[in-house]
Amino acid sequence: MAKVRTKPEELRAPILGDPEYDARNPYLGRIISEFPEHFIIPEEAMKRKGHWAEHCGGLPLHLEIGCGKGRFISEYAASRHDAFIIGLELKLKRLYKIAKKLSRLENPQAGLIQFDASYLNYIFDEAELDRIFLFFPDPWFKKERQAHHRLVDEKFAGQVFRLLKSGGEIEIKTDHPDYFTLLNEMFRKSGFIVKAESSDLHSSPLSNGQIQTEFEMLFASKGMPCHYLLLQKP
Ligand SMILES: C[S@@+](CC[C@H](N)C(=O)[O-])C[C@H]1O[C@@H](n2cnc3c(N)ncnc32)[C@H](O)[C@@H]1O
Repeated sequence: MAKVRTKPEELRAPILGDPEYDARNPYLGRIISEFPEHFIIPEEAMKRKGHWAEHCGGLPLHLEIGCGKGRFISEYAASRHDAFIIGLELKLKRLYKIAKKLSRLENPQAGLIQFDASYLNYIFDEAELDRIFLFFPDPWFKKERQAHHRLVDEKFAGQVFRLLKSGGEIEIKTDHPDYFTLLNEMFRKSGFIVKAESSDLHSSPLSNGQIQTEFEMLFASKGMPCHYLLLQKP
């Protein structure tokens, strides 16, 4: 299967039944036709930049980056009707499965976008987001030459800082101690203040009321601690 293009400048509106898109990834046509209410095409998402409040009934805007198989976002949407949550993910098959889960909920305040989170500033304006969840981003730590794949660098941390409102928060979880140290350093440097931190979330009272992600459950089943960071934009 050809690589799915995700950079904003390479995106164009997918057209249902377009053989080029179908060949690239059949889940695109399926998600658009079966779950149009839960999927926002990238071009539409880019048009909403600065205007999300009009599309979310004025609810606070929350964002999950790399929502994977969607355990977190679907449980969040099931229990929270006081915020609109957007799930960003590169893989359409995963988004399709999440859309299916959302479709079983009653009036979920959630939307899904296939988008590369490195380009968040194409879809969100400064101070437009209230909360961000970044759970188990791929660490790319096995070899140093993989480092350029890592989502979070100083530029990304700065971008996240600008897109959050004052008082807005980002919650981060990872199994990887070195990545945790790096994330901690980068986000602090960009101006965030640390509100809570743990190197073993599940042994800490901070885990009360938390929704666990698929990766979190997987690592917990292997006895690996979950590192947790809650940061706030002053
Ligand atoms: C290690 S998985 C974690 C999934 C989920 N957050 C969890 O905790 O179970 C990382 C996810 O992020 C997605 N991802 C990786 N890079 C991304 C990017 N630049 N933009 C959006 N999603 C990305 C991957 O496709 C994958 O589903």
